[in-house]
Amino acid sequence: MKAKQQVAVIGAGLMGHGIAQVFAAAGHTVTVFDRNVIALMDLRERIARNLTELREDPKAAELVFPIEELGECVAGADVVFEAGPEDLAFKQKLFLQLELLAPRGAMLASNTSVIPITQITKDMRSPERAMGTHWWNPPYLVPLVEVIKTQHTDSAIAQAMFDLLASAGKTPAMVEKDVAGFIGNRLQHALWREAVALVEAGVCSAKTVDTVVKASFGRRLPVLGPLENADLVGTDLTLAIHRTVLPEIDSRPAASPYLEQLVSDGRLGMKTGHGFRDWTPEEQSSLRERVRKHLVAMNNADQKGEAPTAC
Ligand SMILES: NC(=O)c1ccc[n+]([C@@H]2O[C@H](COP(=O)([O-])OP(=O)(O)OC[C@H]3O[C@@H](n4cnc5c(N)ncnc54)[C@H](O)[C@@H]3O)[C@@H](O)[C@H]2O)c1
Repeated sequence: MKAKQQVAVIGAGLMGHGIAQVFAAAGHTVTVFDRNVIALMDLRERIARNLTELREDPKAAELVFPIEELGECVAGADVVFEAGPEDLAFKQKLFLQLELLAPRGAMLASNTSVIPITQITKDMRSPERAMGTHWWNPPYLVPLVEVIKTQHTDSAIAQAMFDLLASAGKTPAMVEKDVAGFIGNRLQHALWREAVALVEAGVCSAKTVDTVVKASFGRRLPVLGPLENADLVGTDLTLAIHRTVLPEIDSRPAASPYLEQLVSDGRLGMKTGHGFRDWTPEEQSSLRERVRKHLVAMNNADQKGEAPTAC
């Protein structure tokens, strides 16, 4: 792999600009295309601001080049990250274009949140170079990137992507089978399903669910994964707990009617001021700031070698 890669990013939104930032901060040149030129106009400014907030060199933003034409953006790319809308038809069409417009050896990756990569790449002639790379928001603060192989992805190409992400300071995780939601979102939404079900059943309030998670196992999660925890307490105890609790846990294979009702009532969460809970503008900004500060502190601790992120 070349020490300095030519990275192309499609989509300059929340995820795309952050992905571009990660590679620019690692010294790679990054071109970014977005259909909306307004998203390109302040791209460097947004990246420089993030870097300044992180006390990193904002000059890295100068390695990012906003490009208004897709073909020009990917023409010299070693690797392309797609971070456009979460829309299967859009992604399918884009991957067919990328196959023609990017160099033959370029790795092509989608940042879809949950869509199986095989559905996105199904009509490609060279699906061996396509895969998922699922980043987490914000990409420059959350370490994980899942690298998702389809049955057609060349393992050596997926490994090259894994190595590139690691060299840029990320924590890559190889996902060997292309399942909807990959690993992180399957685990996260298994928890969210039960969280909604507990509120729906009147066991507790939404606020109480969040308190229980944050003040209990949430405290241990940065240093203790679920299966490490199972081994810690013993698989025998884990089995006994599962025999009693699993029959009681929500296993409906569909979104909860409670959640459906919230959405049809226009209770869309912070964007409408009401969701599972009511949110004043002050509460919203305070929560956002709390999350940002926490992630920055974890990131700083990682860099000083203080945070227990070894996987
Ligand atoms: N937001 C998250 O927390 C998160 C986390 C992981 C993955 N993802 C996934 O990453 C992708 C991007 O999400 P986001 O949150 O950055 O969305 P976003 O809406 O912030 O950004 C999407 C960008 O794509 C651009 N776009 C729209 N149509 C386009 C086209 N035809 N060609 C090129 N660009 C186009 C938009 O102008 C916008 O700037 C989605 O697939 C999403 O599911 C999001």
